[in-house]
Amino acid sequence: MRRREFLQVAPAGLLVNDSSGPLAMGTEGILSTFPPGFVWGVSSSALQIEGALEADGRGPSIWDQIKGGEPARGPEPAAGHYHRWPDDIRLLQDLGVAAYRFSVAWPRVLPEGAGAVNQKGLDFYDQLVDGLLSAGITPWVCLHHWDLPTPLQKMGGWIQRETANRFLDYALVVVGRIGDRIRHWIPVNEPNVVAYGGYGAGVYPPGHMNEEFFFDSVHHQNLAQGLALKALAGRNRFIGPTLSISPVRPASSNPQDVAAAKLHDLIYHRAFLDPLLGYGYPEPLAFRMAPLVRPGDLEVIAHRPDFLGLNYYGPEYRQAWTGAPFSNDGNVSPPREPITSEKTPIDPQGLFEILCSVRDRYPRTPIVITENGFPGPDVVGADGRVDDAERIRFLRSHLLAAQKALAAGCDLRGYFVWSFLDCWEWTWGYDQRFGLVHVDFDTGVRIPKSSFSWYRSVLRSNKIRP
Ligand code: FCB
Repeated sequence: MRRREFLQVAPAGLLVNDSSGPLAMGTEGILSTFPPGFVWGVSSSALQIEGALEADGRGPSIWDQIKGGEPARGPEPAAGHYHRWPDDIRLLQDLGVAAYRFSVAWPRVLPEGAGAVNQKGLDFYDQLVDGLLSAGITPWVCLHHWDLPTPLQKMGGWIQRETANRFLDYALVVVGRIGDRIRHWIPVNEPNVVAYGGYGAGVYPPGHMNEEFFFDSVHHQNLAQGLALKALAGRNRFIGPTLSISPVRPASSNPQDVAAAKLHDLIYHRAFLDPLLGYGYPEPLAFRMAPLVRPGDLEVIAHRPDFLGLNYYGPEYRQAWTGAPFSNDGNVSPPREPITSEKTPIDPQGLFEILCSVRDRYPRTPIVITENGFPGPDVVGADGRVDDAERIRFLRSHLLAAQKALAAGCDLRGYFVWSFLDCWEWTWGYDQRFGLVHVDFDTGVRIPKSSFSWYRSVLRSNKIRP
């Protein structure tokens, strides 16, 4: 089916609501504290913090050669976490988080993507897990955060159904080594960003702009999540997929922009959420996906997760476009301020909207905010401190939105700041810093920022401080 046909048949029911509706956020009803057991954490991902890309038998990933920023630099040395992990655990302990979300690098564990297991790669995560547990921090393990082994990409990556089976094999290897100590699992991080950026819009590796490849990568990543959910379920485990979810707003009231926003919501959110949460592929996608879906696939994909991981940074604005299908040309800058220095809108209302939309569309789905954070150029002051007051304002406003959603009956179980450390950002390199901890990328020296102290006080009191 061509893009134009999609535009004609895009369904009226959207995942997202527009901001002018009954969800407008006031301050009434804010809870004074978060519920008991609410999980406070910070997030990271392997490629973005570890460095040591050639250490101990790690194989290549599709992102290793990508460079970003000014000057353009790649994911070496990142934050040097591969060698500094004991210091980083001490920082986490000092911060006082209950949980730490990190990812395991598939290319460290299976350098060829499949087949021979690299025990040294597993050793790294084994000792990290033990270190976290003895520091009283619960590890939340994401099995795959974008760093697909290059040999698998050479065979087609997520275009190939076989990659879902390889993912399951890899997942079982990791579970075989650390599964005795890990309760919390996220199989695949943001498959929607991978499908859209890597196979549809072509802005991320492997750089395809191909409608057919896009749909292949949607189904095969859904299948990968489902296979892992099914294989790992039970045994007192808490497992859920993580997606990037944002309100999609039309750039104008022009009907073509409105249709473009609906289409984006369909292919970016509902193509994943609907099948993963047991509703199958939504019309009109079901027709497009049918040739890919084998008997039993939808049951596997719908293996009930214990939670939905939601990553939120800001809303998206879409306009009608004329380029290739799924071209990123339809992605436009927000029509109103404020925006972050890298032009993401700052919009806590969007978080509230999206939490309420999930509550309404997918009832009985516990939610964990697995990423939320603010990019900035943060500099070390003459006094040696890093004062990131803007980040504190951002986090505070989003936590207020989360509290408001709790008061509105959303089953929100936890919140993880992106990110623990300043790290390498996929296309921005080292220019945009998201961390609660400043990292000097030349020396590896860490300095906790003001937001670190602020977040620590939130965790201690279980409520939002001014
Ligand atoms: C998310 C990614 C994460 C990080 C943030 C800023 O989409 O999951 O790795 O890059 O964006």
